[in-house]
Amino acid sequence: MRHEITLHVNGHEHRLQVESHHTLLDVLRRQLGLTGTKHGCDCGECGACSIWLNDRLVLSCLVLAAEADGAHVLTVEGLAASGEFAHLQEAFIEHHGMQCGFCTAGFLMAAAALLRENARPDAATIRAALAGNLCRCTGYHGILRAVQTASRMRR
Ligand code: FES
Ligand code: FES
Repeated sequence: MRHEITLHVNGHEHRLQVESHHTLLDVLRRQLGLTGTKHGCDCGECGACSIWLNDRLVLSCLVLAAEADGAHVLTVEGLAASGEFAHLQEAFIEHHGMQCGFCTAGFLMAAAALLRENARPDAATIRAALAGNLCRCTGYHGILRAVQTASRMRR
């Protein structure tokens, strides 16, 4: 079954035709070309598809596009364009928080969501907030240091 929906993505309104089974991840990547959000496990296990939906961190592979009708979506492209978390991106680079980069957009969205709620998280809080994001390359140490540094830069 087809649905006509409206999505506000990174500040732009889109009228879209979607099938009942299409996820928000499908629509962002295939219809809108926003490939910064990654298609990993497709079952809520890896965090690569993390975005903000109406200002809340969600896994876009677990949200049906039809259910998101009228919603406001922020992807990593929008996060970068806003400049609000440029210090977080810089800290990831400084601390080698990425290698292949496949997980990075998801980590940035999750870390930004954490820092928005808690400007001074301790290491345990950062680990807990990022527990849903998997990285097969970095060993997580650089990511943890990057978020700690970003937290200090934001104070
Ligand atoms: S692709 Fe969504 S959690 Fe892995
Ligand atoms: S940098 Fe490769 S999966 Fe995280």
